[in-house]
Amino acid sequence: LIHLLTTEGLSKDILTHILDTASNFVNVNDREVKKVPLLRGKSVFNLFFENSTRTRTTFEIAAKRLSADVFNLDIARSSTAKGETLLDTIDNLSAMAADIFVVRHSESGAPYLIAQHVAPHVHVVNAGDGRHAHPTQGLLDMYTIRHYKKDFSNLRVAIVGDVLHSRVARSDIHALTTLGAAEVRVVGPRTLVPSDMAQMGVRVFHNLEEGIKDCDVIITLRLQNERMSGALLPSSQEYFKSFGLTEKRLELAKPDAIVMHPGPINRGVEIDSAVVDGPQAVILSQVTFGIAVRMAVMSIVAGNEA
Ligand code: CP
Repeated sequence: LIHLLTTEGLSKDILTHILDTASNFVNVNDREVKKVPLLRGKSVFNLFFENSTRTRTTFEIAAKRLSADVFNLDIARSSTAKGETLLDTIDNLSAMAADIFVVRHSESGAPYLIAQHVAPHVHVVNAGDGRHAHPTQGLLDMYTIRHYKKDFSNLRVAIVGDVLHSRVARSDIHALTTLGAAEVRVVGPRTLVPSDMAQMGVRVFHNLEEGIKDCDVIITLRLQNERMSGALLPSSQEYFKSFGLTEKRLELAKPDAIVMHPGPINRGVEIDSAVVDGPQAVILSQVTFGIAVRMAVMSIVAGNEA
């Protein structure tokens, strides 16, 4: 694995290897390990052309825990604001001896463009491109599911909400089907579920109660308002009424079901506050595991594994 651009097409062995490598970075208290020297002397450039709290920060922590030097480009103050092209920016940062580019961009495919352009010793990790893919989120979701549920083969997983605009949903679906989840469901309004879901091997539900019934894992998704035109966007109240995950509705899933969310959360829109703060939510564990998973991904693409 030279770049990580998508979970689509990654074999079960590679996915499992990434999860196993990440688990080496997590100690018995489920916190990440102290600093290791695996990327000493390497430079990681965080290029976030779109907002982020969790992904940007955990990539920075992960790179520092691997002893790399980390540079966060301030896009608003960079020369992209003066019209410099993406690839010219990349050439200039490559001239500063970049080893890994971590890229988030609103355009689907931007990390692929960079990966095709950079020298063979430079690695690109997709930190979310448009509505296409968010592979490290998919991987940290798989890590979290494996942590709580151990084995994928008996699991019924529901992905609930705005699947149409969700790069997380796509990355999760590819990973879950490859890792052998018994059943993957997507649940959402007709306007927010894409038409290719059956080809991806998932069952589609347009009713929340039916969709989460007897599930082991529920992954809730935010309404991606920034990717919707006015006509498509339901009102928050209307959406919560039909698709908001409440404690009452959660009772329809298995009693030990876990509730996940990639963040950022909109409380009272896709999920009720009581569920976010309740005993079945593992949302903050996802964030913590994201550090170890991103350590694993960067050490693997750079060829400097433990
Ligand atoms: N899950 C996720 O990508 O969160 P951020 O947008 O805060 O990085």
